[in-house]
This record gives sequence, structure tokens and C-alpha cells, in this order.
Amino acid sequence: MDFRYTEEQLMIQDIARRIAREKIAPTAEHFDRSGEFPLENIRTLGENGLMGIEVPTEYGGAGLDPMGYVLAMVEIAAADAAHSTIMSVNNSLFCNGILTNGTEAQKQKYVRAIAEGAEIGAFALTEPQSGSDATAMRCRAVKQADGRFIINGTKSWITSGPVAKYIVLFAMTDPDKGARGITAFLVDTDKPGFSRGKTEPKLGIRASATCEIEFNDYVAEADEVLGEEGHGFKIAMGVLDAGRIGIASQAIGIGRAAYEASLAYVRERKAFGVPIGTFQMTQAKIADMKCKLDGALLLTLRAAWLKGQGQKFTTEAAVAKLTASEAAMWIAHQAVQIHAGMGYSKEMPIERYFRDAKITEIYEGTSEIQRLVIARHETGLR
Ligand code: CAA
Ligand code: FAD
Repeated sequence: MDFRYTEEQLMIQDIARRIAREKIAPTAEHFDRSGEFPLENIRTLGENGLMGIEVPTEYGGAGLDPMGYVLAMVEIAAADAAHSTIMSVNNSLFCNGILTNGTEAQKQKYVRAIAEGAEIGAFALTEPQSGSDATAMRCRAVKQADGRFIINGTKSWITSGPVAKYIVLFAMTDPDKGARGITAFLVDTDKPGFSRGKTEPKLGIRASATCEIEFNDYVAEADEVLGEEGHGFKIAMGVLDAGRIGIASQAIGIGRAAYEASLAYVRERKAFGVPIGTFQMTQAKIADMKCKLDGALLLTLRAAWLKGQGQKFTTEAAVAKLTASEAAMWIAHQAVQIHAGMGYSKEMPIERYFRDAKITEIYEGTSEIQRLVIARHETGLR
């Protein structure tokens, strides 16, 4: 096993770190407070290859491997989790799904604009009554004699929904077939029949805009079907396998920011005449934070490496996402405790890390769903 990063991986990490330091960290508090969408920063990420890291250069991406994606995501998330949410949807959920399942014409049309950061992409699976139980969707796409589909239904919690130009949508084309009756579509939000609900007020990742979207007799052309008819659920699950590596990386970034802030604080803050880092109880917190962070990173790199090798990585991605998100939540919790009053104050970013960490245990499959995926694989039972 070789633990050294390649030159390309170090290069993308370096680019991400520079943008994170110069553009994102100084504006993170503003965007968290205002809930505005950070469009200019997202354009900068796109111009620097960070919106399509694994997208081949012929489709406007950086052409790097999944480990490069992990390293870059960690850097952006450490500066601001909301930016990394927008980044992860464009990279993993939007571009990755089209690259794996799209036609050449679809890759040219949809991937380039998103990978370059000129447009924003989204991914619409969840509905008001179906989150974890994704096959219980009600959004219907009815095929017409001329091969077009008429789509009606509602999707909820759509990240970047308020600003997306294109959306990968999952709808039921044959309800009698359950999971095998779902088809994926490429939606253009400027077409008639598409509308948006209000932007959700959220606990964390507040600059990542989320909303409900609606389809009222929206017409999808035959060439706007992604992959084969009836293969939509498999496409969604495959895309989410890759997406979970991105969310694991996001969690590591949030955890690392909380850890580094804690490390600095325990050295400088004094109580009883000594730095609080000299107390064994504080030292145990620091040691446990470090172990959880390193463990999460190694598991995430393992999943990314398998993906890069073209091997199956469903279980490893679930292991990485579960471990990293629970590590981030635990570390952020301990960071608030270490900073105590200042951890609770909006004058420091610690309370933001705490609020932002929570989402990593919920989206792209809750922790319970990751455990279900892992245990089904390990036991062969369901
Ligand atoms: N890759 C390919 N195919 C897969 C697969 C995978 N990882 N997992 C399952 N499938 C296939 C199965 O082989 C099966 O196919 P066949 O019918 O041909 O045998 C089909 O999909 C149905 O599989 P299951 O019976 O296992 O399906 P299930 O109903 O039991 O659900 C589940 C499985 C893992 C719980 C799944 O529903 C799930 O992942 N739920 C969570 C949903 C989720 O993560 N949503 C995220 C929305 S996006 C988001 O959140 C974005 C964001 O925040 C930014
Ligand atoms: P439910 O499925 O109703 O779950 C409720 C509780 O029951 C959870 O604790 C869950 O773990 C538990 N549970 C459910 N089933 C089981 C089971 N079988 N075993 C054990 N426990 C179980 N979706 C998209 O499609 N696109 C997006 O871009 C997107 N972005 C999001 C952004 C944000 C900020 C949020 C909050 C959500 C987003 N989602 C998105 C939706 C997200 O994926 C779902 O919220 C998530 O999958 C959980 O679904 P739910 O909220 O309906 O919870």
C-alpha cells in the first residue's frame, strides 16, 4: 500500500486550499448569516476545475481521480460546508451520473456547463413522503405515443434547486414494477411545466439553497431520458455510492476545522494557571478527535481508491460516510465543549461547525440507511 499522494492529487488539493483560504473562509460567516447563495465563489471554483474534478477535460472538467476529489472537498468543506455541498452535488450527483449513464450528446450538453461552473446542477430523488424509502416515489412520467414523457409530481429538499439550470430527475414510469419502474430524466428548469417552492430555512449549510420543485405537465423529450427506461433506481443508487464519498469528505473537512480550532484553543486558553490542554480530560478529547479524523480519512480514501480502480465500492462508501459523518458530529460537539462559552458564541465559527456537521448524518442516506447498506452486505440478510 502506497500512502503517498500523486502530483495531480497534491495540485488539486493546493488549488482548493488556496481558494478556500482566499475566497471562502473570509466570506463563510456572511453567507451563513444571510443565507445568500455564494454565486461568485461557486464560479471561481468552476473556473479552477473544482466543479468537475473527475470530469474528463474534453467535457470541461479537471480530469482527476476520485482521491483528488476527496482531497479538494476536504479543503473546501474545512473553510465552509455549504460551499462544499454545492460542489458535491455538481461533481458527484450531477456530472458523475451523466458521465456514467449519458449519451455522448448528453455529456456535451449537460456536463460541460456544470463542470465549468457556468451553470448549477441538481439531483431530485426525494419527495415529501419518500426520503429513505426512495422507491415509494409518486412523481409520474407517462410515455406518449411519440416517445415523449409528460411528468407530474413534487420533489422536496432539492439542494441548489432554487438556482439550478439542469436537474437529474427520477420519476416513476411503471408503478407496477417498483424499483424497476423508475426512470431518470435530464430536466431543463427554463422549460414550461417546471416551478420552484420556497427556499427552506435550515439549521446549517445555510448558503446552500434548498427547495421543493414541482412538475405540472412538464414535457421531457425522448433524448432527455438518462440511461435506459426502468433503470433509474440503479442509476440513482450508483450515483449515491459516489456521492457518499463526497459527503464523507465534507464531514472530514468540517471535523478538521473543528479539530484545528480546538488544538489552537487548548494551547492558548488558561484555567487554574495553566493552558487547558494540560488537563488530561482535554488531552483525551484531542487524542480521540485525532483518531476519529484520521480513521475517517483513511476509510474515505479507500472507497475513493476502489472507485478509481473501477472496483465495486458500495459498502466501502457507506462505511466511509457513516464513520466520517459521526466523527464530524462528535468532533464538533467536543469542540464546542472545549471552547465552552466561546464555543456557544457566534463570534467564533465553532457553533457553525456544530450546526453544519449534523447534515452529514442525514442527507445522501441517513446513518441508519448506511448501517442498513453495510449490514445487508455483511450478513447477506434483509
Ligand atoms: N448500485 C446499483 N444498484 C443498486 C444499488 C447500488 N448501490 N443498491 C441497490 N441497487 C438495486 C438493487 O440491485 C435492486 O435491483 P433489482 O431490482 O434489479 O434487484 C434495486 O436497486 C432495489 O434495491 P433494494 O431492494 O435494495 O432497494 P430498497 O428499496 O430496499 O432501498 C436503500 C435500498 C439502500 C434503502 C435505498 O432506498 C437508499 O439508498 N435510500 C436512501 C436514499 C438516499 O440516499 N437519498 C439521497 C437523496 S440525494 C441527497 O440527499 C443529496 C444531498 O443531500 C446533497
Ligand atoms: P425519513 O426517510 O422519513 O426517515 C426518518 C427517520 O427514520 C430517520 O432517522 C431514518 O434514518 C429512519 N429510517 C427510515 N427508514 C429506516 C429503516 N429502514 N431502518 C432504520 N431507520 C430508518 N434529496 C434529494 O433527492 N436531493 C437533494 O439534493 C437533497 N438535498 C438535501 C439537503 C438537505 C439540507 C436535506 C435536509 C435533505 C436533502 N435531501 C435531498 C433529502 C435527504 O436525502 C433525505 O432527507 C434523507 O434521505 C432522509 O429522508 P427523510 O428526511 O424523508 O427521512
